Amino acid sequence: MDVDQVRAALEALRQHDLPTHGGQTLAYVYDSGLEEADALGREALAAYGSTNGLDPTAFPSLLQMEQDLIAMAARLLDGPPETVGTVTSGGTESILLAVVAARDARPDIGHPTMVLPTSAHAAFHKAAHYFGVRPIFADVDTETGRAIASRMTDAMQEDTVLVVASAPSYAHGVIDPVTEIATQAQARAIRCHVDACIGGWLLPYLRRDDPELPAFSFVIPGVTSISVDLHKYGYTPKGASILLHRTPQLRRPQLFSSAAWPGYTMINTTIQSTKSGAPLAAAWAVTQYIGDEEYARLAREVHEATSNLIEGVGDIDHLRVFGEPQSSLVAIAGDDQLDVFTLADELLARGWYAQPQLRSVGFPPTLHLSISAATVPRIAELLDALRGAVKSAVAAGPPVLDPVLVATVDALDPSSFDDAAFHELARLAGLESAGTLALPNRLAPVNAILDRLSPPLREALLTGFLDRLTQQSAQTSSST
Ligand SMILES: Cc1ncc(COP(=O)(O)O)c(C=O)c1O
Repeated sequence: MDVDQVRAALEALRQHDLPTHGGQTLAYVYDSGLEEADALGREALAAYGSTNGLDPTAFPSLLQMEQDLIAMAARLLDGPPETVGTVTSGGTESILLAVVAARDARPDIGHPTMVLPTSAHAAFHKAAHYFGVRPIFADVDTETGRAIASRMTDAMQEDTVLVVASAPSYAHGVIDPVTEIATQAQARAIRCHVDACIGGWLLPYLRRDDPELPAFSFVIPGVTSISVDLHKYGYTPKGASILLHRTPQLRRPQLFSSAAWPGYTMINTTIQSTKSGAPLAAAWAVTQYIGDEEYARLAREVHEATSNLIEGVGDIDHLRVFGEPQSSLVAIAGDDQLDVFTLADELLARGWYAQPQLRSVGFPPTLHLSISAATVPRIAELLDALRGAVKSAVAAGPPVLDPVLVATVDALDPSSFDDAAFHELARLAGLESAGTLALPNRLAPVNAILDRLSPPLREALLTGFLDRLTQQSAQTSSST
């Protein structure tokens, strides 16, 4: 391809992607609405795309920018002077590293556990799976969505290496009682990680105006580590998060070096070895440009817009906000006449993407909405779209599922679910024609099927789906 063809092809490839800007995509992306911040981010991505964070002595500029970002985060999150940090590729990597550091700090414990509320992010499930740390789940208050400190305390054991709280939870935007949880963990000499991936760059600004908002930072002595994502409410390009530890000693087990092979000496703070310096440089550029005062303004506006949205949702028949959200996220539930998955399809038809969340123990199925700065001037439009979408969804009713499909799905056994079973199911569900897997425009029937299944069965189906989807992409690309 020549230059123009490549550009045109790139443009065409994006045609079916969700929009990253404009404020109508209410998950996955966070738009500051500040054109210059975006432009600076893009410039830094381009300038640093080929640098390598593999070795901080080879590219000292990356080390410098990383230290600047960590200092900013530590100030924001009340870190003591000894606070140390690492810039990682995202929230999940920050969480993986917090868990592995907690595990490796206790080599005396053969079968480590971690205690987390059922509302904690799935990244902790992934960490448990990767690192062999058994999760112990504590029920949350199903009215407020908040972790219950006494349940968390009851779940802590001799072999517990980490206790987790969210500020706020992704699914419902609820801040856990971090002070109580961290204090109990500290009394048992257990580490306490606060997952502030989504709220860590926003809540501190809100707390400046509203001291009633609960504390969640290093101001609480028992908090040992905090994750905060730059690529969410720092409004930086994707690929940047920060993991802070209260002291270098707490972080030490996270660090890795290898000199027992014939190549270069390997020294890593993160899971990735070779890593582009681009997301780090872009995060540095954007945060320097936006700065503290502007972040405070954006946070206030987002919070106010979220409150207006919550109030507006309360006035729409069939809809309610789940739990007691306190930041910039809202989870919407429906009554028995409103299927939220149909609502998601109706919203998408009106240009708004809200993210379906399946039912879980104690939690109804909901739609997740993350409000970012670019959505602020569009709350009235969003409420209009919601009103129209609710009307259509109630009129349409929940998706009618093929009884043969339902019977097949209900009889599935996750332990013996194989490619042939997936193939048959995809065919029955109309997701496959002529051997090609394709998602329908309206996803409500697929979500309705998943919603009725147990988590292990859902996971078997989803893994089967991903496996097929990614094989297909490889086949398609090799044939073009
Ligand atoms: C509270 C929380 N923790 C962890 C994560 C995982 O972050 P990432 O998707 O950047 O890996 C998210 C993402 O939304 C989150 O909201």
